[in-house]
This record gives sequence, structure tokens and C-alpha cells, in this order.
Amino acid sequence: MTAAQTKLKTRPGAALDVERIRADFPILGLEVDGKPLVYLDNAASSQMPQPVIDRIVRYQTSQHANIHRAVHYLSETATSEYEEARRKVARFINAREEREVIFTSGTTEAINLVMHGYGRKFLGADDEIILTTLEHHSNIVPWQMLAEEKGAKIRVVPINDAGELLIDEYEKLFSERTKFVAVMHVSNALGTINPVRQMIAFAHARGVPVLVDGAQAAPHLKVDVQELDCDFYAFSGHKLCGPTGIGVLYGKAALLERMQPFKGGGDMILSVTFEKTTYNTIPHKFEAGTPPIMAAIALGAAVEYLSEIGMDAIAAHEVDLLDYATAQVNRMPGVRIIGTAEKKAAVLSFAVDGVHPHDVGTLLNQEGVAVRTGHHCAQPVMQRFKVPATSRASFAFYNSMAEVDALVAGIRSVQKVFA
Ligand SMILES: Cc1ncc(COP(=O)(O)O)c(C=O)c1O
Repeated sequence: MTAAQTKLKTRPGAALDVERIRADFPILGLEVDGKPLVYLDNAASSQMPQPVIDRIVRYQTSQHANIHRAVHYLSETATSEYEEARRKVARFINAREEREVIFTSGTTEAINLVMHGYGRKFLGADDEIILTTLEHHSNIVPWQMLAEEKGAKIRVVPINDAGELLIDEYEKLFSERTKFVAVMHVSNALGTINPVRQMIAFAHARGVPVLVDGAQAAPHLKVDVQELDCDFYAFSGHKLCGPTGIGVLYGKAALLERMQPFKGGGDMILSVTFEKTTYNTIPHKFEAGTPPIMAAIALGAAVEYLSEIGMDAIAAHEVDLLDYATAQVNRMPGVRIIGTAEKKAAVLSFAVDGVHPHDVGTLLNQEGVAVRTGHHCAQPVMQRFKVPATSRASFAFYNSMAEVDALVAGIRSVQKVFA
């Protein structure tokens, strides 16, 4: 064990029994080209523990039927398990009421739901929407589509060289035309943790609602939507140990009730005639058609699994991983960390001098180390740092200090190949 590791052992995150946790994740035992898999692409998608896999098997082998529609045993079981998953998610983010939790296919759909349901109903010509330079494309493009349709305008909060939002500039962007703010909680490209609570309070003082893209925060930080006082909070199941095809939109009940539905179809109605349709109450008004029942139930199991470990313990361990990785990479000549915010979560984006990020990724893969290379669906961030792409290692609570060492050794071998 290195000195840094010994020091870290005494910190709160070290209380996590990573070896025991890893045993829950069958996929982490894989070898890639004869090398142990070092999975550091968690910001793109995280892995699934056995209890969640087991939950899927149990649902599919003994509980599956369509929900909300029949009185037979399986349908009633599936319905109550689906609604129980909603309660688990509500508890996970401390929503005031479970009807404030809408199941979507992911963060992207959750943001699009707000754009259609709120934006198209309440925004008009010359209204302004505030976004930030850090946003993922899924929190830019829907608002651009809305702006184009309505003649509204997008205003963008700039960042400094560390990748932190310039909060003075954010505040200066507000005017009587400001009608909506959409901001990410944690940057997927740089790891910056944004001061969303402060930003929400500022917007609310001016009567402006705020959507928070929590895709990269929900897996790493304890999220309390009541404490944040956000109007909307979006995240994806597959980034927090759940399956793909499921995500969550939290919305304050009063706002959701005033919004128009996003999709029309079965289950989102109370009554239909050819003359008039009456919509269902929330959350069903926003869940048209057969939802991803199995995925929602698995997400419920995933948030339960994470809560049992404890989001504070998870966050502390990931801070340790990030600090340890940052300290080592900072000492490497020819490697530059992109994104050096004071408050960061779980992401280390870097550039190796003279080596294209795709080559970094390919060579690291030969060592068994999985990182992501590219623009991370955040091209404005790449433009701000004048790079076409970065290499990104992103951590989860099941990563170990030894895996950080493998990353660092891998970067060294990349440098040797290009020396
Ligand atoms: C910050 C952020 N927002 C939104 C998304 C989109 O999530 P999904 O593809 O699960 O809808 C991602 C995915 O990487 C993300 O990192």
C-alpha cells in the first residue's frame, strides 16, 4: 500500500468495504485480453449489482403482467411493485409526495417532457431561458428546439478556466424576460459540482422555475429535492446501478398539475370520447402507454441497494478516489487535467500531450482499463477548453485505489508508446 493509500484509509470513505461491494458485481470479475477489467466509464453507464439482477429475474419469473389495467393476480402484483418502486425513488430523493416522481426512459426524456409540458405551454416570443456552458447536449438541444418554435432566446452562463460557473454572470443574465433556468448539478465532462441550491434560490426570488439535470449527481451525492427546492430534477437509472430504459423526472406537484401532457395514449387518461379527453392525475398523466415496468422495479431495487450502502459513504469514498487519482496524475509530466474546480465529483478528464484521446482510450483498453474518449456530449465545454475531445476516467463507489493505480500505470504506458 502506498503512503497516499495509507492516509486515505483513515478517512471516512475508507469505511466502505470495497472488496465486499465488488463481490456484488459479477461483471467486475471480467478479464479483457487477459487483463483484469478496470471499469472507469461509470459516468456513461454504471454496472449492476447482483441484488438488482436478482430482482429482475424475480419479476420476470413470477410477477410480470401489464399494470394498472386488470384485476388478476399478476397484474395486481406488477402494479403494486411498480408503485412501490415509485415510493422507493421518492424516498431516495426525499420528494414530498410519490406522485411527484414520474418514470421516464431516462434523463433525456425527462428534460424533453419538461420542455414540451412546461416550456411549450408557458414560454413565448422573446422569453429567455438560462443554460450553462457546462450542459450536456440533452439539456441544450430541447431548449433550442423550444426557442426556435417560440422565438424565445437562450442565454448561457460562462465558466472559468477551472470549469466553474461564473455565478456573478449568471445573476447578471436575469431580466424580466427570464422565464426558465436549466442547469446540471454535476458536469459529466469535468466533474464540477455546481452551486445549484444558491442558483435556485436566486431564480426563485425572481419567480423563475429551475430544472436540474441530476444525471451525474444522483449516483454520487445525496440528493434532497426539498432541500434544493428545485422545481424539476431529472436522472437516469442506468447511471445508478439500474437498467437502461428507465429514468426519473421529479417535479413539484403544483407545477406538474399545471403542465400539459407530453405524450398521448393509454393510461394517461381518465376518459376519452371523440369530442374530448380528460387527462389522468399526476404522475399517470405523464406516463402514456405501457411503461418499462421491469426497469422501474429494478431501479427501485438499485436505489435501495445504494441507500443501504449510504450515499454519504459513497460520496466520501469517491472523493478519496478522485483526490488520489488527481494527486497522481498531477505529478505526471505531459498530462493535463481538464476541469480543476474546487468542488468536483467522480470525474477525471485529461489530455496527454501529443496523443489523441482516441489513441489514449485504445491503448488503455489494451491494459484492461475502460475510459471514455470524445466530447462527452458536451461540445460547448470542449470548445471552451479548445480541445476536440478528452479522455475521461469516471469513478463509482465500487472502484478501488488499486484501479486508480492501474489507470496511472496505463497512462504511463501510453506515453511510452508515443515517446
Ligand atoms: C449530465 C448528463 N445529462 C444527461 C445525460 C443523458 O442521459 P441519458 O442518455 O441516460 O438520457 C447524461 C448522460 O451521459 C449526462 O451525463
